[in-house]
Amino acid sequence: MSIKEAEVLQEKVQNGFMVERMEDMNDEYLKALKQTLAIVGDTELLSVPPLLTVYDQAPNLNYKITALAVMQDEIGHAHIAYRLLEDLGEDTEEMLYRRPPNRWKNPYAFDFKLDNWVELGVFNGLFDRSGYTLLGDAYEHTSYGPWKRALVKVDKEELFHLRNGEIIMKNAMKNPETAKQVQVAVDWMFLMALEFFGVADNLKSRSAQLDYRLKGRSNDELRQKWLSTAVPFCESIGIKVPAHYDEEQGKYVIDVPFPCKFDPENKKWLTDQPDTWEGAIERFKQRGPQNKEFVTRIQKGAWELEQMRAEEA
Ligand SMILES: [Fe+2]
Ligand SMILES: [Fe+2]
Repeated sequence: MSIKEAEVLQEKVQNGFMVERMEDMNDEYLKALKQTLAIVGDTELLSVPPLLTVYDQAPNLNYKITALAVMQDEIGHAHIAYRLLEDLGEDTEEMLYRRPPNRWKNPYAFDFKLDNWVELGVFNGLFDRSGYTLLGDAYEHTSYGPWKRALVKVDKEELFHLRNGEIIMKNAMKNPETAKQVQVAVDWMFLMALEFFGVADNLKSRSAQLDYRLKGRSNDELRQKWLSTAVPFCESIGIKVPAHYDEEQGKYVIDVPFPCKFDPENKKWLTDQPDTWEGAIERFKQRGPQNKEFVTRIQKGAWELEQMRAEEA
């Protein structure tokens, strides 16, 4: 593909052209789209195992049903992304059931089990807010028609997830013991939610996702958007967060080093040890403690079914 060819499609989509078929794409577009959808599918699907680790600690049946509804939504969202990938020629059977755990593209934050029910609320309140911010942007701006249409439903459901998180967090603040759990959870999840948006803009020379309008806002713009709702919400319920709005700069600033070194065993940020994005990406590649267990949980049923069929044959 020539540079000219790439520029023609980039200009078309920047002017509002919607890509509907593979014939509308060039190789670069197809590659960026597949990468994006793979990250989205893996993120949706791998959000379920951490939620499952504590859903049975729900304080009442209503909460339990809501948690199950959230998980069902996430599996539906994953299905949408993988189904789109299948239409683009990807072997999703292989992707789902044969891919080694360390090659899944879910956020590092999802490689951890949750410690208690309150953490499920903070997971919904902060991480689903990242999902809502990212997918809301894609819904608004994406040039890929089939994805845009599917995101109508996803957008509404993500908003429900994050509101559910806010309700759990708010209620937990009424009791000193659970209020402390909210703060402990926010302490490790806040920066992790900010990591969802990826490397700082000044470290990225170009982004095919932006050039081809798969998304509309840059990583730092999305981070600001997340902060603009997460910080006021946390403060409104009496939770301390390591970020504040800076009047002079007209934007939110993070009060601790970011990126920062993290101790996965104790789920603690080592705020006296600043990191680079290279270092953070290295940590993501090392994967978190539950990566193998969670991916195996997804894949195991398919392997067992295969085994059963082989024995019957
Ligand atoms: Fe989702
Ligand atoms: Fe969600």
